[in-house]
Amino acid sequence: MFEVRPTTDRDEFARALYGIQQYFGGPPTEEQVDRFNQFLPLDRMHAAFEEGAIVGGAGAFPFEMSVPGGELRCGGVTVVGVYPTHRRRGALRGMMDAQLRDMHERGEAIAALWASEETIYGRYGYGIASWGGDIVLPREWASFAQPLERRGRTRFVAPDEAAPLLQPVWEELMRQRPGTFRRTEAWWRLRTTRVPEPDKDNPARYVVLELDGEVQAYAIFKGDVKFGRGAPESTLNVREAIGTTPQATAEIWRFLLDIDWQATIKASLLPPDHPLFLLLANPRRTDYRFADALWLRVVDVGAALSGRAYAGVGSVVFDVRDAMCPWNEGRWRVSPDGAARTDDEAEIALDVATLGSAYFGATSFAQLRGGLRLEEISQGAVERADALFAWRPLPWCPEIF
Ligand SMILES: CC(C)(COP(=O)(O)OP(=O)(O)OC[C@H]1O[C@@H](n2cnc3c(N)ncnc32)[C@H](O)[C@@H]1OP(=O)(O)O)[C@@H](O)C(=O)NCCC(=O)NCCS
Repeated sequence: MFEVRPTTDRDEFARALYGIQQYFGGPPTEEQVDRFNQFLPLDRMHAAFEEGAIVGGAGAFPFEMSVPGGELRCGGVTVVGVYPTHRRRGALRGMMDAQLRDMHERGEAIAALWASEETIYGRYGYGIASWGGDIVLPREWASFAQPLERRGRTRFVAPDEAAPLLQPVWEELMRQRPGTFRRTEAWWRLRTTRVPEPDKDNPARYVVLELDGEVQAYAIFKGDVKFGRGAPESTLNVREAIGTTPQATAEIWRFLLDIDWQATIKASLLPPDHPLFLLLANPRRTDYRFADALWLRVVDVGAALSGRAYAGVGSVVFDVRDAMCPWNEGRWRVSPDGAARTDDEAEIALDVATLGSAYFGATSFAQLRGGLRLEEISQGAVERADALFAWRPLPWCPEIF
C-alpha cells in the first residue's frame, strides 16, 4: 500500500514530477520544476510514497474550461507517472482516488485529461469526450473550393509581444466551443510563447491577422526547411491556427497554405468539424487521422450537468454508477433546467465514464448505445437524451496539457 498526499515542498514536488519524467529520460531540471510550479501549485500535485520515498506523481491544473453554453472549474489532470520500479501495484489508483476527492472538495465539477494510452483512465470514470486529428497536406492540394476575397492583413509579432494579441482570439474560441481551458498570463508566457533553448535557431513564428482594426485570427507555426533534388521540400508545422469568424479562419489558413518553399503542411488536434475540411477543394488530401482527444470525468454529476446549457427540450432519468465517487451514484433527472435527484424510474443506466463521453455533445447517446456503453431501460430514452444533449460546434482543445 502507498501513502498518497499532496506535495508540501519543492523537493517533494520535483520527485513527484520525476514520475512522468522517468519516461522522458531523466529527472526534471531545476528550471522545469520552477516553471511547472508556476501553474501547478504544490498542493495540486499528489505523490505516492512507499516507506517515505516518492514513487509516483499526478498533478491537476486549476483550470476554467468551456462547456456547452458556459464555463466550469475543472481539474486539468497532468504529469501522471509511476516509477517503473513500482508499476502495477496500485500507486496510480491511489493517486486518482485522492485527486478526485480533492477536486470534489474544491468544487471542480469536471476533470479533463489527455491520455497517453486509451486503456488507462476508463476505470477511473474518464470517458472520451472529444475527437481530434492530424493532417498531412501536400501543398499542391491546398487550393480552396471557392475563391477567397482577402480583406485582412497579416503581420509577424515577436514571441514576447504575442500573448496580449493572441489571448482575445483564444477567449473567443472558449466562447464558441466547449473543451477549451483558459490560459493564464503565466501560461501564455511560460508555455505558449516561451522559446525553448534548443529552438533558438529556428523558433516558432507568431502571426496575427488584423481585420476591421482588430486581431481576428492568429497562427503559431514552425518551419522544417529542406531542399530535395533541386527543389524545396520543406514542411510547415502548424501548432495553432485560430480565427474568431469564418472569414478570419479562412484567411489565416490561406496565409499558412501559401507560404513559399513548403511541400507539406502539417497540423494536429483538429476537430472533425474544423472549417478547413470544407474550405479545401480536396479535403481527402489532408489524410486526416482521427483519434480520441480530450477525456472528461464528471466529478460532481449535479453541478456538472446543471453547469452546462441544453439546446434541446424534454428530460431523461439516468441511473449513474460511480464506484469511485459514491456521491454521484443514483438517479438523476436532467432537463434544460439542469440535473436534480429523483425517485422516478431510471430510463438509461450508465457508468459515469459514459456520461463524461456524452457531456460535450461530441459523442451521442445513440453512438454510446451502439458501443455497448449504456443500458437503455425505457425505449426512446436514448433519442430523448440526444435531443437534449446535442451541441454544436464540437469541442476543441487545441493544446495537450
Ligand atoms: C500509467 C501508469 C501511471 C499506471 O500506474 P500504475 O501504478 O502501474 O497503475 P496501477 O497499479 O494503479 O493500475 C491500476 C489499474 O490500471 C491498470 N493499468 C494501469 N496502466 C495501464 C496501462 N497503461 N494499460 C492498461 N492497463 C493499465 C492496471 O492493470 C490496474 O488494473 P486493475 O485495477 O484491474 O488491477 C504507469 O504505467 C506509468 O507511469 N506509465 C507511463 C507514463 C504514462 O503513460 N502516464 C500517463 C500519462 S497521461
